[in-house]
Amino acid sequence: MSAALGPSGQGVDLAGRFAAARYTRLTPRLGCELDDVDLSIPLEVAEAASLRGLFDAHGVLVVRDQRLDREAHKALGRVFGELHTHPSREHTRGDRHIFKVAADADTPFNNGGSWHSDLSCSPQPPLASLLLLRELPPSGGGDTLFADMCGIFESLSPALQAWLRTLSAFHDGRKDLRQYGIELDPGADYPSAVHPVVVRHSSSGRPLLLVNGSFTERIVELGREESDALLRFLCRRISAAQAFQCRVRWQPGTLVIWDNRRTQHLALWDYYPETRRGERVSVRDPRVPIAAD
Ligand code: SIN
Repeated sequence: MSAALGPSGQGVDLAGRFAAARYTRLTPRLGCELDDVDLSIPLEVAEAASLRGLFDAHGVLVVRDQRLDREAHKALGRVFGELHTHPSREHTRGDRHIFKVAADADTPFNNGGSWHSDLSCSPQPPLASLLLLRELPPSGGGDTLFADMCGIFESLSPALQAWLRTLSAFHDGRKDLRQYGIELDPGADYPSAVHPVVVRHSSSGRPLLLVNGSFTERIVELGREESDALLRFLCRRISAAQAFQCRVRWQPGTLVIWDNRRTQHLALWDYYPETRRGERVSVRDPRVPIAAD
């Protein structure tokens, strides 16, 4: 086993195939690309620990040239925990753990086209997501942006940080669906939850901001107008915070593994009418988000 040096992430013990991989940071704060590593073969125990260590160190891992079938994709997800079922897949006859991501000339919208963390409307939002894209628009485009929510919180003034720590927010899956023109029947079951606005990252302990434009409906302690104004300010801060973002340029066979607690993401839709297609596996977080002290 060797300890990762330089771009691969300080302090991560790299075992087996991770010791032989090549590492390139995406930005100084967030994201790392891994080349020359084949994740289609099950990981040894020490290799699984290396992958989790890299995930904790970098927040976003971009692994090129992966040939994973669905079983291998799910097995990789299980390195991080039990698999999560997307609410839209609860009653499917197909694979409950595979969430398809696809846009083409006939799709009226692009999944994930505004800044969000996956399913923050759930009482226990997923811990991680692993998206493998198999088909990319031939003319280019379709990048995904990621933002470091710990860094963005820490960039706010101390007085604002202190006030945000006292607030909680209502996240509603129906708000997200409305972006896609989907209105559920009043009795239909879809997740919603109240979370602290500032939560503690369950691995690093760092505080981070847990609000986003897709799912966060309102700040519980504020009137509607005040809540809208604060959410508008925070969402603008997230989208404008280039110093805390990284950008993933996909190729067919690129697998991206992101920390869904530490990061938010935005999938660009700049390739219409071309096709971008892949599948996502997400990992359950056994804990509910806990307020940062
Ligand atoms: C998503 O999980 O929100 C989609 C991300 C992407 O398509 O890049």
